[in-house]
Amino acid sequence: MSSVALSRSIALGIDVRTQMQAGASLEKALDIVCRGCNPEEKAAAQSVTYTATRHCMAAEFLLRKLASRSPSEPVKALLLVVLSLLIEEPEKSYAIVNEAVCLAKSHKQTLSASGFINACLRRFGRERETLLKLAYKDKAVRLNAPMWWINKMSKTLGEQTAQTMLELQRRRPPMILRANRRKTTNEQWCREVAEQGIDATPIGADGILLSSPMPVDRLPGFRSGIVSVQDAGAQLAAQILAPKNGERILDACAAPGGKTAHLLELADVEVTALEKDPIRAKRINDNLSRLGLNAQNVVTTDAGQTDAWWDGKPFDSVLLDAPCTASGIVRRHPDIVFSRRPEDINALALQQKNLLDALWPLVKVGGKLLYVVCSVFEEEGSQQIKSFLDRHADAEQLEIYPGLPASLTLVPTENMERQDSPLPAVHDGFFYALLVKHS
Ligand SMILES: C[S@@+](CC[C@H](N)C(=O)[O-])C[C@H]1O[C@@H](n2cnc3c(N)ncnc32)[C@H](O)[C@@H]1O
Repeated sequence: MSSVALSRSIALGIDVRTQMQAGASLEKALDIVCRGCNPEEKAAAQSVTYTATRHCMAAEFLLRKLASRSPSEPVKALLLVVLSLLIEEPEKSYAIVNEAVCLAKSHKQTLSASGFINACLRRFGRERETLLKLAYKDKAVRLNAPMWWINKMSKTLGEQTAQTMLELQRRRPPMILRANRRKTTNEQWCREVAEQGIDATPIGADGILLSSPMPVDRLPGFRSGIVSVQDAGAQLAAQILAPKNGERILDACAAPGGKTAHLLELADVEVTALEKDPIRAKRINDNLSRLGLNAQNVVTTDAGQTDAWWDGKPFDSVLLDAPCTASGIVRRHPDIVFSRRPEDINALALQQKNLLDALWPLVKVGGKLLYVVCSVFEEEGSQQIKSFLDRHADAEQLEIYPGLPASLTLVPTENMERQDSPLPAVHDGFFYALLVKHS
């Protein structure tokens, strides 16, 4: 239960929305608004903003039905944020409406419209079912994404799978942790925190599924590097590479360092971690030092410009977690569908191709390259690897897990019943391909 007053959370959510309207990404907008906030307030702002983004199309639709003329910008912002909260948490309607009206009364810009705000929100309460049914007749509103994105997903995954994935994106994503194997195991951590009333389940080799998300500062052992936040699908990267003591590994697109850290938790390896963005590169060092790990080289550079940073010694393994559309992790970044344009897919596929071609010569004979994107689009996944294999006669694709396709597209899932797969039961969307170099 958050200790931040609901009205304060809503006010922060409105400020974040204003920043996003001015062009900031969700993450950037949260950074700007929460600069002076304590961790609890930041978590509350995050929660409200993510809810508002997950339901923004439905909230816009409802506002058009509830208000006969377009309200002023501050009134509109308040109503959109609050309607999203009401859509997601109907059981808290009474408190949400009361706090929203108090908030409206306490601000000059919304004071005179507080009666109108109250009337709109209470009408939504009365006509909720009818209005939502009407809203969700529109596919784009129901799935909270532009039609080009929905059509692309359906073409890629098939109508049914795309629909299930897009619907999952409208719900709060699960919080998944990674146990630092140098300090604990996922099973041990889950047993220990159960005594403190935290309900957690081991998933996959190192993953932990929390039954309720919580701010990282409240996670037992987070500060001391016992656990990290990382989706179970992302945890497969280090597990597939299966590092061995003494190996030299390149992590080419490394920030914020989740996979770098996991590799270092699994074996005594020498990792070179590259990151183009200097601000993000700093987060690699912060994460490693929290975990008590040491990557020998964290370099801020363009991985593709190998002349600028490579010492000429080949690597045993290369991990290329390439920049991508992030179409597989929309539930964690719900603004992505609104900021992407159709032409971004090919532009990113070209960047991925250039990185693959630049880094392949750095893999030693007999060494491996693991290609990962958090996207399910084939231009960034299976097609990318097929054309790579056509260009490189010395590359061969290895099976990732026995019985699974060599080019593995993971579609986001939450299926705790799944018994028949070596994959974790809950994960985001990714594409994985493992390549080996022969002479
Ligand atoms: C998918 S994220 C990496 C996530 C990271 N591997 C992890 O697990 O925490 C991709 C990263 O690659 C960086 N990047 C993009 N192009 C790059 C390039 N040419 N060279 C190095 N880093 C790059 C981006 O700034 C971004 O931080």
